[in-house]
Amino acid sequence: MTAAATAANAPATKTAAPKDAATRGLVEITKVRKSFGTTEVLKGVSLTVEPGGVAVIVGPSGSGKSTLLRTINHLEKVDGGFISIDGKLVGYEVRGERLLELREKEILKQRTGIGMVFQNFNLFPHLTALENVAEAPVVALGRSKEDARRRGLELLDRVGLKDRAGAYPRQLSGGQQQRVAIARALALDPKILLFDEPTSALDPELVNEVLDVIRELATSGTTLIIVTHEMGFARDVADTVVFMDEGQIVEQGSPEHIFTNPQEPRTRSFLSKVLEPAFNI
Ligand SMILES: Nc1ncnc2c1ncn2[C@@H]1O[C@H](COP(=O)(O)OP(=O)(O)OP(=O)(O)O)[C@@H](O)[C@H]1O
Ligand SMILES: [Mg+2]
Repeated sequence: MTAAATAANAPATKTAAPKDAATRGLVEITKVRKSFGTTEVLKGVSLTVEPGGVAVIVGPSGSGKSTLLRTINHLEKVDGGFISIDGKLVGYEVRGERLLELREKEILKQRTGIGMVFQNFNLFPHLTALENVAEAPVVALGRSKEDARRRGLELLDRVGLKDRAGAYPRQLSGGQQQRVAIARALALDPKILLFDEPTSALDPELVNEVLDVIRELATSGTTLIIVTHEMGFARDVADTVVFMDEGQIVEQGSPEHIFTNPQEPRTRSFLSKVLEPAFNI
């Protein structure tokens, strides 16, 4: 079954997304379930991220963090529950008692409001940094090439790479490529940015240059949802830290709460492993 749960509790899709900046980027995830074959990897996940909020998701490998992130822009369909952004359902519309999946064109349109940055950058190798950043606004938003180029240069400047605009991905370090990928995600003026382990493919000395860019974004009013293993960064940047294990949110709260006073044994056990690794030399 690909349709989500019944429409009974879902918001009406006909409501236009509010224009009010104060509600731009409200993410509401409600009882989302997802299985691959017979394995249920999301077991009823509910999470609200306020407009401009920064939620950081942490948890062991295989706990469902990437899958959850991918349901937010409908790269994964959900098997139950629903997700809405600014009150509008993601990927589905209400038809009577059921949720029907939107057509591909409408899904792609929705996705332009949700930027995603992946672990492996995913830049187009045959395009320069600037071309990587300037392409989608022309194709997806119908902007003029000139506008997209000008804005692309501004965004490369914002991530500290204006002078590398003409470089191809192979001529850039991993950290630089990831900063181009962030500029590319920003080029569609998304209200939400999703990051899936944006620094885990980087050499340690390149991690900070990427985290610094994300830190700056965290104060920009864009809603950020970040999966990371960088606990110090999570503590710094998050309003809400979400600990996931085995397809469920075990505990969530302020960084202070999660890192210094976790209530759940599973959270404590996870943090004791990642915050105080044993060195046996
Ligand atoms: N396309 C898929 N087909 C089948 N199983 C999948 C698929 N994607 C993910 N899974 C499984 O779903 C579970 C959750 O995976 P997910 O990638 O969401 O975990 P994660 O928390 O992001 O882990 P990591 O920290 O290693 O990235 C895992 O058991 C994984 O093997
Ligand atoms: Mg993952």
